[in-house]
Amino acid sequence: MNKNKILVPLSDNSYEVTIKQGLINSIGEELTQIGINKDRKILIISNKEISKLFGKKLLNNLKKYNFNAEIFNIKAGESNKNLASLSEIFNAAFEVGLDRNSLMIALGGGIVGDVTGFAAATWLRGIEYIQIPTTLLSMVDSSVGGKTAVNHPKGKNLIGAFYQPKAVFIDPETLITLPTREFKAGMAEVIKYGVIKDKSLFEYLENKNNRDKILNLENESLIKIINKSIKTKACIVSEDEKENGIRAILNYGHSFGHVIENLCGYGEYLHGEAISIGMKIAGDIATEKNLWSKEHSSRQDHLIESYGLPTQTPKIKKNEVMKILMGDKKVRNGKMRFILPIELGEVDIFNDINETQFLKYFD
Ligand code: GLY
Repeated sequence: MNKNKILVPLSDNSYEVTIKQGLINSIGEELTQIGINKDRKILIISNKEISKLFGKKLLNNLKKYNFNAEIFNIKAGESNKNLASLSEIFNAAFEVGLDRNSLMIALGGGIVGDVTGFAAATWLRGIEYIQIPTTLLSMVDSSVGGKTAVNHPKGKNLIGAFYQPKAVFIDPETLITLPTREFKAGMAEVIKYGVIKDKSLFEYLENKNNRDKILNLENESLIKIINKSIKTKACIVSEDEKENGIRAILNYGHSFGHVIENLCGYGEYLHGEAISIGMKIAGDIATEKNLWSKEHSSRQDHLIESYGLPTQTPKIKKNEVMKILMGDKKVRNGKMRFILPIELGEVDIFNDINETQFLKYFD
């Protein structure tokens, strides 16, 4: 059986990401191996749907290893990634008596992971937590790197902290129950790693045989793309944990992705679908500025489409786009900071992209 471990090297906050088929059935053993004592109380945060699928398995396994664990479900969906869910988690933490020696486990996708991480960062001024991501997007992106947050009515992820997990456990088998549309949306982040830093991943994803294996959830190919994605993320995060510089390249395709999510309503486009369109726009701008060849740009667009992801910009008015970007403080003096590709597997940060150069993609 394949087992991969990737170190996220962050001096005192270093941790390992373990990827293994069937891992959800041996979390108790994994916790023992990383030195978690049985006397530490554990609160697993999940949602109803994910709990139904994996909660019992996880609890049974933890009980087998004599861990004292309980599950608390928050409401699913982006609209519940808020202070109310956080407050519910704190109530549950109080009820079960989580002390400073206790542990939280996030079992679910990006929303569960982000809220749990922030709850762990702030409960009793910070307790340890573990990430068990169950969607492709959270496996390759949000569970690694320590960005935790909840939304505020004024904007996404406005309240949060950089707070690294103690470990991340990834079981690709949990993807079998993930809706196909969500799996494909997760592929957008995998493609992103190919474009920003890993040409060999890009080429692997382009190969038709590999694509068939990935879309059929063949275990070895899943482990390969998850592993390669996380290695890139670990390398970037270890260089710039708090996003003072290079970490921004992980946001390739995200500026317009966020605009699209925001203006079309969260849910109309999944995050990965919106950033697919954002990557297409970034590629087009780079080509126009002679930073990137037409050939590379069309290879990127073809790759995105071959995984069933959109590249067509929805009808959005220019002034609406500007309102969002100004609100995000992304545009200053008519200029925008942009991550653009300059090679296959290489991007750079540009501060001089003119309003006219990007507004033409909108109505
Ligand atoms: N999702 C982008 C980052 O973790 O920095």
